[in-house]
Amino acid sequence: MIVLGIETSCDETAAAVVNSERDILSNIVLSQIEEHSPYGGVVPEIAARAHVELVDTVIARAMSEAGLNFDDLDGVAVTGGPGLIGGVIVGVMTAKAIALSGSLPFAAVNHLEAHALTVRLSGDRDGKSVKFPYLLLLVSGGHCQLLIVEDVGSYTQIGMTLDDALGEAFDKTARMLGLGYPGGPQVELWARDGDHDRFTLPRPMLGRQGCDFSFSGLKTKVRQTIEGFPSGAICKTDVADLCASFQQAAGDVLVDRCANGIRLFREEYPYSGALVVAGGVAANEHLRSRLMSLAENFKFPFYAPPAHLCTDNAAMVAWAGIEQLRHRGPDTLDFKPRPRWPLGRVVAQTPN
Ligand code: KG4
Ligand code: ZN
Repeated sequence: MIVLGIETSCDETAAAVVNSERDILSNIVLSQIEEHSPYGGVVPEIAARAHVELVDTVIARAMSEAGLNFDDLDGVAVTGGPGLIGGVIVGVMTAKAIALSGSLPFAAVNHLEAHALTVRLSGDRDGKSVKFPYLLLLVSGGHCQLLIVEDVGSYTQIGMTLDDALGEAFDKTARMLGLGYPGGPQVELWARDGDHDRFTLPRPMLGRQGCDFSFSGLKTKVRQTIEGFPSGAICKTDVADLCASFQQAAGDVLVDRCANGIRLFREEYPYSGALVVAGGVAANEHLRSRLMSLAENFKFPFYAPPAHLCTDNAAMVAWAGIEQLRHRGPDTLDFKPRPRWPLGRVVAQTPN
């Protein structure tokens, strides 16, 4: 099966062609960084307009790099939500038009599900697709959740952020330090030369029962620390040390919450599983290595997609489309874009 995937839910206009043998035949991502960077974040109206301008070209490039015509496709998949509604509409309408004109099966993919299934496309250390069930830490610009991935379309959320997503905290930290947008990669870069013990930052939720997250206290303390410097007196070393201290604190929180997640997962599945990390923040090398060590301590396999498949892309959408089409067949063309689209059922956490 060969599927074209389209992703337009945030600030990347992306198209990719993937087959059911897990080959990525093309994977084009056009980022709108230049359009949004003067504003320090994504402006929905600008994003929607840019998607309209770029989507045709990106799809044409994906098809030509794959060396295929629309006739060669067995389906078209698109992010149907959650996301910025203007962009999602652009992608969904384009995918519907392609599906209708070529009488192709159409799959409206949940963006979070696409992140969740990416590791089955990228594979384990032996190159094999990762098997269900697994514990997933989904960390992106808009989401921070721990999920048990049981099967395609079957997810149990065991933890979520009570306030900010981790990517948002990275982006805001970068913005406060004047490091530009998107902030996550910048903070990671600066943190490499920094002293992570220099600033004492909070680790919200650390040691608490359950798997929920919170990052707003950490972000606030970063702001207060910056405000504590005399105006204009913050030097490169301070920036590097603050980035390193922030990243270390974020890592400590993720490790603590995921440890609880692994314990909970093991109660349900004592003999199988893996820890998987996905979403844009999963591109962070420091956090990946912290999570890998955690998994090793639990004698648990650890898998993360390559960095370019962690941040938004359409290969993950095409792959989720393949999984979805195989699992439950196509969606109808009356699918309505969904700005909100939670993934799976939520289990209540014991408050502490
Ligand atoms: O998954 P994604 O591309 O878009 C959403 O679905 O939100 O995630 C984007 C987020 C942004 O907040 C960005 O700063 C963050 O992922 N990010 C990173 C890194 N690369 C991207 N955060 C930390 N370290 C990185 N290397
Ligand atoms: Zn995403």
